Amino acid sequence: MAWTEWMRTVEVEPSLYAADFSRLGEQIETLMRAGVRIFHFDVGDGHFVEPITIGPIVLQSISDRIHRMDGVIDCHLMTETPEKHFKAIAAAGGDTVTVHIEACDDLYSTVQAARAEGLQVGMAFKPQTDAAHAARAAVVAGFDLVLCMSIEPGYSGQPFMPEAVARIREARSILPDEIPIQVDGGIGTDTIADAYVAGARLFVAGSSIFGMEDLPRAYRRLLQALQ
Ligand code: DX5
Ligand code: ZN
Repeated sequence: MAWTEWMRTVEVEPSLYAADFSRLGEQIETLMRAGVRIFHFDVGDGHFVEPITIGPIVLQSISDRIHRMDGVIDCHLMTETPEKHFKAIAAAGGDTVTVHIEACDDLYSTVQAARAEGLQVGMAFKPQTDAAHAARAAVVAGFDLVLCMSIEPGYSGQPFMPEAVARIREARSILPDEIPIQVDGGIGTDTIADAYVAGARLFVAGSSIFGMEDLPRAYRRLLQALQ
């Protein structure tokens, strides 16, 4: 299935990196009952980004539960040589992998390697990477999705970088309609509408959901901020 088939008009994707890991399954089910369909899963290797975050073992422990409720898991690989992880991620139940342009030597072969594992594949770019160059490269290599980072990747809870709005707009002006733009970092009720107007349709939200007491309410408030 293609990204565009999973997506409703827009999707707010809770970033599990910010979850309470002692209550992970319960928080996932609560959010799915509130309408969440896509979860964002951040893999950090301690090289491409400073922290070691979560990986296939945690993914394996939640993927059945998410799939049973018709959800999907979008894996953001903040790693060097991301293709080395595709097999393990697919085996653990990941549905997509998004790799960083800054971490790939050969974008086309990265796309092919992901598809060989049955994974959808996105391309992320960091705040210092030229947005137009990244968007053109994503089209040439055949990616399904483009992720514009609105923070330096690594940690949840950082403020949204306002310059991301122009970068989303620039990427949107280059990408064909069938390639959606995702935005990740500092998305909250005060920033989500600007990213939407610029052209993003998938919104990753970590601390603005899991930092709140009432998770369904936090999710709904993000959707409402788009009205
Ligand atoms: C960090 C990750 C993000 C992170 C977002 O680099 O890629 O997905 O969890 O967290 P917030 O929404 O709190 O910025
Ligand atoms: Zn992420």
